[in-house]
Amino acid sequence: MENFNFYSPTEFVFGKDRENECGALVKKYGGAKVLVHFGGGSAVKSGLIGRVLASLDAAGVPHVELGGVHPNPIDTKVYEGIELCRKEGVDFILAVGGGSSIDSAKAIAMGVPYEGDFWDFYSGKAPAAALPVATVLTIAAAGSEGSGDSVITKVDGMLKRGAGSDLIRPRFSVLNPALTCTLPAYQTACGVTDIMAHVFERYFTNTTEVEITDRLCEAVLMTMVKEAPRVIADPNNYEARANIMWAGMVAHNNVCGVGRGQDWNSHAIEHELSAKYDCAHGAGLAVIMPSWMEYVVDHNPMRFAQMASRVFGCAMNFENPKATALAGIKAFRSFLKSIGMPINFAELGAKEEDIPEMVQKLNPGDGWGFQPLKAADVTKIYQIAAKARL
Ligand code: NZQ
Ligand code: ZN
Repeated sequence: MENFNFYSPTEFVFGKDRENECGALVKKYGGAKVLVHFGGGSAVKSGLIGRVLASLDAAGVPHVELGGVHPNPIDTKVYEGIELCRKEGVDFILAVGGGSSIDSAKAIAMGVPYEGDFWDFYSGKAPAAALPVATVLTIAAAGSEGSGDSVITKVDGMLKRGAGSDLIRPRFSVLNPALTCTLPAYQTACGVTDIMAHVFERYFTNTTEVEITDRLCEAVLMTMVKEAPRVIADPNNYEARANIMWAGMVAHNNVCGVGRGQDWNSHAIEHELSAKYDCAHGAGLAVIMPSWMEYVVDHNPMRFAQMASRVFGCAMNFENPKATALAGIKAFRSFLKSIGMPINFAELGAKEEDIPEMVQKLNPGDGWGFQPLKAADVTKIYQIAAKARL
């Protein structure tokens, strides 16, 4: 195991009706005027925004609202938020929604105290300050409720890029699984796929002797395999929703990834798809991740075979671990299909002729991670994904 620091300062406030504590929580963390930032309407329609504002009012915390965050959030909304916060003297940002609203809130939080263009933080610069951010989560997926990451798309050139800093880790995150019961099955499945991908990006490592994080990863993966079909069959299954919601946090606050090398190639390859076609991030991952697995399996067949046998119950073939590995990848793709995910370009709405453009934009150089990938490798992974079948 490698040396590491693990910093996860967020207070998680989990369970039914906990959004009614927002006002008191904002006060506890020093917010004097709050921007409530949310998406395209689901949180308004469900009455959640009303309850959050009532909680702020009850605690005597003034607030302004900015809705309309697009899934795969864009820079123009961030600029709007920065301007609004400066004009209104906002000192605390409360995101109500999924990864998109949370990531947009984090971008605004870094942009408000910064004199330059906030996009600098999505081009490699580290922020020196940020307004405090908190969240009320409505979809278990991106893990942004516990992460120090934010992903934004720059409309000019449709560049989807990430920023990372401990300054944007949420002060608190309200996780009420009941809020996710209104999700369409497709969005639920996209979230499950993203959660599994966050684990796989950590699981496929060149670091040895990492039993504890291997086992934590496997626990999250097995939980998804068990709980996803239950919520697809019964969207109001609170207990299954609860397990998925906590898993989404555990998958991405890095408790599963400390002390080991990580990959993140599938995410980089997927981000070009969601930037180009505006598809859901989880759906893009369903197309890319099994294809990436097939392409890199020879790098360490035994590690894939371990995943296959422990997570998907495939019989271990010690003489031919690659056969077990391939059975596991097939089981993963079948699982994704069974919960309603696309598994190839046609099902996602992507086009094979766009592959060169996406590879050029991704520009992997000498690559990184479990098996470093150059442009030619990324091209081959997109080609596998384009034609993938069960
Ligand atoms: O906008 P509204 O109307 O709220 O609708 C949303 C949206 O259409 C809807 N939704 C959310 N909660 C709902 C609901 N509909 C009904 N009931 C509810 N309770 O679901 C749709 C998807 O929401 P979104 O916030 O886009 O989903 P997600 O959490 O998957 O976030 C995706 C974004 O996060 C980024 C992705 O790239 C993508 O841009 N990621 C962020 C990460 C991070 N910050 O750590 C890591 C991830 O790997 C990921 O890249
Ligand atoms: Zn993701």
